[in-house]
Amino acid sequence: MHRLAVAWYPEQKSPEHWGQDLAVMREHGIATVRILEFAWSRLERAEGVFTLDWVHDALRLARDHGLSVILCTPSAAPPRWLSREKPEILCLDGNNGQRRTGDQRRCNCPTSTAYRQACERITARLASEFAGYDHVIAWQIDNELGAEPCHCEECQVAFQAAMRARFGTLDALNAAVGGPFWSQDCWDWSQLRLAVAGSGPGFVHLAQRFWSDQTVDFLAAQVGTLKRQGIRVPITTNVNADFPRVDLWALARTVDLVSWDAYDDGYTLAGLCHAHHLIRSLKPGVPYWSLENGINAVGKMLQSPPGFNRVHAVLGRAMGQEMHAYWRWESCPYGHEQDLQGFLDYGGRPRAKLKELPAIDRALQDLDALDLPTPIQRIAVLHSWDNYWATGAYFGHYLKEVDEVAQALVDAGLGWDCVSGDQDLSGYDLVIAVGHVLVDDATLDAVQRFVARGGVLLATRLAFAKDLSNAYRTGARPALPVFGLAVAESQTAGDAHALDRSCWRDPLAQRIWRLTSQAGLPDTETHGWFEVLKPDGAEVLWRYVDGYFAGEAAACRHRHHQGQAFYLGAAVDRQAMSAVVRLAVEAAGVGPVVDVPHGAVLIRRGPAWVATNHTGQEQTLTLPAPVQRLTGEGRVTEDGRSVILPAYGWIAVQTRLA
Ligand code: GAL
Ligand code: ZN
Repeated sequence: MHRLAVAWYPEQKSPEHWGQDLAVMREHGIATVRILEFAWSRLERAEGVFTLDWVHDALRLARDHGLSVILCTPSAAPPRWLSREKPEILCLDGNNGQRRTGDQRRCNCPTSTAYRQACERITARLASEFAGYDHVIAWQIDNELGAEPCHCEECQVAFQAAMRARFGTLDALNAAVGGPFWSQDCWDWSQLRLAVAGSGPGFVHLAQRFWSDQTVDFLAAQVGTLKRQGIRVPITTNVNADFPRVDLWALARTVDLVSWDAYDDGYTLAGLCHAHHLIRSLKPGVPYWSLENGINAVGKMLQSPPGFNRVHAVLGRAMGQEMHAYWRWESCPYGHEQDLQGFLDYGGRPRAKLKELPAIDRALQDLDALDLPTPIQRIAVLHSWDNYWATGAYFGHYLKEVDEVAQALVDAGLGWDCVSGDQDLSGYDLVIAVGHVLVDDATLDAVQRFVARGGVLLATRLAFAKDLSNAYRTGARPALPVFGLAVAESQTAGDAHALDRSCWRDPLAQRIWRLTSQAGLPDTETHGWFEVLKPDGAEVLWRYVDGYFAGEAAACRHRHHQGQAFYLGAAVDRQAMSAVVRLAVEAAGVGPVVDVPHGAVLIRRGPAWVATNHTGQEQTLTLPAPVQRLTGEGRVTEDGRSVILPAYGWIAVQTRLA
């Protein structure tokens, strides 16, 4: 199984040092190098003028040192000569009409014919040139796809064609985007333009979908080029789990395996767990890789504490991740990222982190040696880019809401799959729809059938309120029969609107409403979006005790045919979220629930568990049955009930045999 890899940029370094680099990598447990990612200007110095000998040298040298290679296509950084000769490859800003300059990477338009031709040329050439090397184990296309939104004429024309194909008639388009609002009707397809700052939410949403589709389409074209040139090893691209611009469900369908950049500093720990589950779920049954991990913890510049990187790698492995690659081998003295650090400093001298690599490699080997069974998840969290795109304007941030639920699941020691609306839900016992405001009719049907057949559904505020054009559905909320209630009011009490100029009322009193529990849950308060529920068969979980709607229901649970549906109509605090999630978990019978202390993660792998500690303090976890230690530097208490993890430590245990 693949273990450690690193991003290496031989083009930024004199060839006489390459051998030394590769030898040091090998000595420290690195097995794979990832190269060529941004090397276009050194591969093709003018149109069709290729300089590829140095790549052969680097490839041979890597092979001689026993390293395998991930070869990248360089399209993320078009060379200067190309953007000079063909400025139409550069993204056009919709607000000021200016093109990007080409002084940056990711400056290109994915639709541009000239850009696509140039990418086809370089990629086809690289593939035909290097297809014969057996130690090339995968190809990576581009880098962190998802360009700036482009408004060039080619994009506009493609957008109009795509919307014509989607809606058929202008009437249907106008109905979807809300044409009569502020006179935004389109009476000719040419009047439809990609959204700019100030465009209405319907237009913005369609544009997001278009840009995402164009990016995926570009990727598919590059995959096609590689395959046509005879590339048989897996083709991937490194995505960001929290990057809004590309719908990763669509992207995953075009690659052989999904890879991501698992930078820990951008996530909460629960968010990082969600990211692992999401990335794994994008291509069920196919292993996933991480192609970039930070060498340091914070902002890629501060030194992470000893052991931090190891436990981060172990977490990924326990979640099912295969390749664990670092960014980058060596700090680069020049360029946009000259202040970011590698395992070597600017002069090639080893930095402290390098010494930690062998222990990371050993930890992964130890875990692999256990050959733990693949976890079968019984909880599914609906995850959708439509919702990611559409939330934010008034009621918070999609990933923040997802994070709150993820936190509750991590706190309970539970894992989950992510699912998209069109997936089969029948294998799950609990489905969670968090931040799932936009929904299509097919997903609504699937969710209702899931509950009717005995599944448990937990939905949070505004669930299923809008259609896929980002317009509110009118009439009763469509999925409400399963919830046994009607939503009478749905408003923000949050901080989206500053009230400090409204001298006639006290803003705080407007915003924080207390909730009392009717069901043994903790009392809590809501600061954000709030809803007033009118139960019609549902049992009340929380009621508002102050504010305009004192006495009304804020959250409910309903038994519907064989199943149950929980509806949480208010933003609640962590403790209350945890309690309601556990109620749903209990109803679905998907335990066991374990109280996992903050900063730790517990991952179930068949009869085994892996526990990781991401803090600088010792942590103790008490498990539901006595366990014995398998490996890792934590220990098990005498009675077998608890594991004790040192700072940044981990352990794998399994249930004691009677
Ligand atoms: C990543 C990117 C790398 C490098 C790194 C710096 O997002 O893929 O190329 O820029 O960030 O932290
Ligand atoms: Zn464009």
